[in-house]
Amino acid sequence: MPYFEITGGKKLNGEIEVKGAKNAALKAVAAALLSSEKWIIKNLPQIEDINRILEMAEDLGAKIKRGNNKVEIQAKSIKKTRLSEKLAGKLRASIILAGPVLARMGKVSMPYPGGCVIGKRPIDLFLAGFQKMGAKVKWQDDHFSLSARKLKGAKIFFPKISVTGTEAMMITAVLAEGETILENAAMEPEIPALAEFLNRCGAKIFGAGTPTIRIKGVKGIRGGQMKLIPDRIETGTFVILAALCGGKIKIRNCNPDHIRAFLVNIQKAGVRIEEKKNELVVWGAEKINPVNVTTHEYPGFATDLQPPFTLLVTQARGTSQIHDPIFEGRLLFTDILNSMGANIVLNDPHRAAIHGPTRLRGRKIASPDLRAGITLLLAGLIAKGKTVVENIYQIDRGYEKIEERLQKLGADIKRIM
Ligand code: EPZ
Repeated sequence: MPYFEITGGKKLNGEIEVKGAKNAALKAVAAALLSSEKWIIKNLPQIEDINRILEMAEDLGAKIKRGNNKVEIQAKSIKKTRLSEKLAGKLRASIILAGPVLARMGKVSMPYPGGCVIGKRPIDLFLAGFQKMGAKVKWQDDHFSLSARKLKGAKIFFPKISVTGTEAMMITAVLAEGETILENAAMEPEIPALAEFLNRCGAKIFGAGTPTIRIKGVKGIRGGQMKLIPDRIETGTFVILAALCGGKIKIRNCNPDHIRAFLVNIQKAGVRIEEKKNELVVWGAEKINPVNVTTHEYPGFATDLQPPFTLLVTQARGTSQIHDPIFEGRLLFTDILNSMGANIVLNDPHRAAIHGPTRLRGRKIASPDLRAGITLLLAGLIAKGKTVVENIYQIDRGYEKIEERLQKLGADIKRIM
């Protein structure tokens, strides 16, 4: 199995470009299945999660043509209504494919979706939403099937804000009969970006990016071209990389407006940042202040940026409190940071106290999930001596050729096959 070998302590300098947003790309591939015409998705990151969702779309009958950071998808017809068992088990976002297949074919079935092991990750909000739109839900062992001769617009209130839940209902409602109203919807920037593109292809979506989204059902969707927004989680990860390992690093092709809450907190930590329209210049921090952070749905501090931020404050002078209420398992990786020399105490699964500064030592570790994985990689870059990071499929799920991009900044990191 491939792994990364890292020798810590190198100062990093130069420029790094942010790729297209993984979590926008996954949903765009699903939305492409609404149309029988060709969709071209540009600024596509070359990462494992995208490989998996494209394999699933192909398995359902879509024609896929990959290029350099772009893909053409055409689902003239959908040939299967059962999602690939093997692939759906690898990717939580596979559930986003259910709606378009249901809308076009009147039925769909799939296993319980897999993905990052960061908590229970229930699917009750999806099933309740599909039912409201008129679908019948049947369970058999760990598979479920949905069927509806015709999906109907509905009023759906989300008792809990869900990103993929909002996107799934928004996409499915595009071809439903009548009007759907989503209340307490998620507002992450990937949602208005997808709605805007769907509208250019003939959908009628209003209010995406606010808590209330209205979708007037249409008979069909045209083809078109969309450019994915930059990955805001990759942007924040690189800000922390620069704060810990710079030198001076220019982060290009990003949208600072998408990580405002994160930037406020990183500046409280004492990190110097200069902001331009699509760029951030970040200097290595000589002294890091402790900061308390609570993650929150957008526009709050993103839970996906909590693991690298937790690493950052292991280097702060004093105690930082991190509260991540969104998933139950997001702080469990801190055990691994402790094995490298950090001093992190979990008060409960959602709350950690990080006492710093601590000198980290390199050792052999394994990525438990995507965001914890990149955090351990960053830990290796600041640790004394050599770190081996195993299970790097988890990192490749979300970060394109990360070792090559870090080598260009001066990092001592090798992928060993
Ligand atoms: C999305 O996951 C992202 N994934 C996650 O990024 C991200 O951490 C998360 O949003 C929160 O921002 C994708 O977009 C593919 P949710 P999602 O539904 O949509 C509960 C990464 O590292 N919930 O917004 O699956 C759930 O348990 C990944 O890139 C229900 O209770 O998250 C959680 O507590 C990891 N029932 C809360 O809602 C449901 O049916 C928010 O989850 C669905 C969710």
